Amino acid sequence: MSRQLMVAGNWKMNKNLIEAFTLASEVISKAKKLSGAVEIVLAPPTPYLHTINSMTKDLSYVKVAAQNCHFEQNGAFTGEVSAEMLNSMQLAYVIIGHSERRKFFGEHNNILSRKVSAAINEGLKVIFCCGEPLDIREANTQQGFVQKQLEESLFHLSVEQMEKVVLAYEPVWAIGTGKTATPAQAQSMHYFLRNLIRAKYTDKLADNCTILYGGSCNPSNAASLFENVDVDGGLVGGASLQSDKFIQIVNALSN
Ligand code: 13P
Repeated sequence: MSRQLMVAGNWKMNKNLIEAFTLASEVISKAKKLSGAVEIVLAPPTPYLHTINSMTKDLSYVKVAAQNCHFEQNGAFTGEVSAEMLNSMQLAYVIIGHSERRKFFGEHNNILSRKVSAAINEGLKVIFCCGEPLDIREANTQQGFVQKQLEESLFHLSVEQMEKVVLAYEPVWAIGTGKTATPAQAQSMHYFLRNLIRAKYTDKLADNCTILYGGSCNPSNAASLFENVDVDGGLVGGASLQSDKFIQIVNALSN
């Protein structure tokens, strides 16, 4: 089994240019002291992608992700960024399906399916987010909910394409709320997701698929989340905005 461990920092719409440069510099210099067993992914706002990607080129285990892309290659889509543009900057990853994109920009499973295809066809790897809102968790129907998200946005991919996907389970009720899924809740959902992939694709793909947990992940709870066999790292929001906290989370996975 060669499952890649990963901690990704989703900066969302935070930091001005100087602050972003400072944060990336700090993370890169602290990452140089680490073993490289954990892939570190930085997802800054779009205007800083090229600069920060250039800063990471000496470290093979620090990569950069865009937070979104459009499903068309180019054209009259004011304000949008295409997967082709991201690829031309030699970015490694793009995050697709974040719950904030779903909620604030109306991105539903079908649109996300087109974005996933566009990204993979351009040679990008995708960090695909799934996760249920609070009412679904309270009704205990979260498994069916995330299954539909995967079926409608990912399961059109071939085995070779699906190998380019990292999954991120982000329960919406845990994002930015300070309320984290318990380690048992995270493990249970990650196990379920891995078995969906096993049923649709192959044992090998399921066993090798990196599945991240996201939602109020911080230096205090990271180790207990990451010690679960099906939790391969984290997708971190708020705590990724400070280099010390972010690196502590990376260390929680390395140890
Ligand atoms: P928080 O870590 O701030 O809860 O955000 C999680 C997230 O949305 C990462 O994509």
